[in-house]
Amino acid sequence: MKSRLPDYGTDGDPTAMLLSLIAFVIVDAILFLIHSQVFKVLACLVLASGMAFLSFVFWHVLYIKFGKLRHRDAILSLVEWKGNETVLDVGTGRGLLLIGAAKMLGKGKAIGIDIWRRQDMAGNGPEGVLLNAKLEGVSDKIEVREEDIRKTSFPPDFFDVVFSNLCLHNIPSIEGREAACREIARVMKPSGVAIISDGFHTNDYLAAFTKEGMEGKIIKGKFLSKSFWLHTVVAVKNVR
Ligand SMILES: C[S@@+](CC[C@H](N)C(=O)[O-])C[C@H]1O[C@@H](n2cnc3c(N)ncnc32)[C@H](O)[C@@H]1O
Repeated sequence: MKSRLPDYGTDGDPTAMLLSLIAFVIVDAILFLIHSQVFKVLACLVLASGMAFLSFVFWHVLYIKFGKLRHRDAILSLVEWKGNETVLDVGTGRGLLLIGAAKMLGKGKAIGIDIWRRQDMAGNGPEGVLLNAKLEGVSDKIEVREEDIRKTSFPPDFFDVVFSNLCLHNIPSIEGREAACREIARVMKPSGVAIISDGFHTNDYLAAFTKEGMEGKIIKGKFLSKSFWLHTVVAVKNVR
């Protein structure tokens, strides 16, 4: 029997993306068919927006199909692993970073939290990460919980490393994203490190961490790599 490979999922909502592209084509065709200069100008604007959206979808698909695992490895390599860390993966999805981190651990433990929003990842749910952990042989090193990062049940100063990839931008308000960064800072041990990778708002995350007394920097995505649009905040919690 063929052995099954782990599946780290499709970020975002592919149906919504496809429908949006179809909507761009239909709206543009209608606008071009109307005999009026104003509508022709509108059609050009819609065409330009449609092209921009198409290029976003192109890079997104390239990342999902070919860039994800390399991006995960680049993030994991930012930690000087000892093997006994307690790790949190925020918005774990199918466990991309959770399982990657678990493979680095001897005695340590990796906990993944998520609220399992269907529009953020196709077929979202804890069963996906549990199956991937089994296939990767790390079931005993991970734990999965349904928790919202804006307010978790973890005690303060609990984690050595907090990861998050492509999650925080899904929180709609700036206040919500700030609350998430505050919560990350709260649950981290002094000297712990937060490594937050995202396509948007990374400057805001760094500002929020700095407000919490952490020190950090942003590592920009490598030019023309399959994850060039993802920037990574690396922030360390100061010892009080
Ligand atoms: C695009 S997926 C990325 C999954 C995974 N980190 C990866 O890189 O493959 C974003 C995940 O963040 C989760 N999420 C969104 N808002 C969240 C919140 N406030 N707290 C915890 N998880 C959240 C979604 O349910 C989804 O599973």
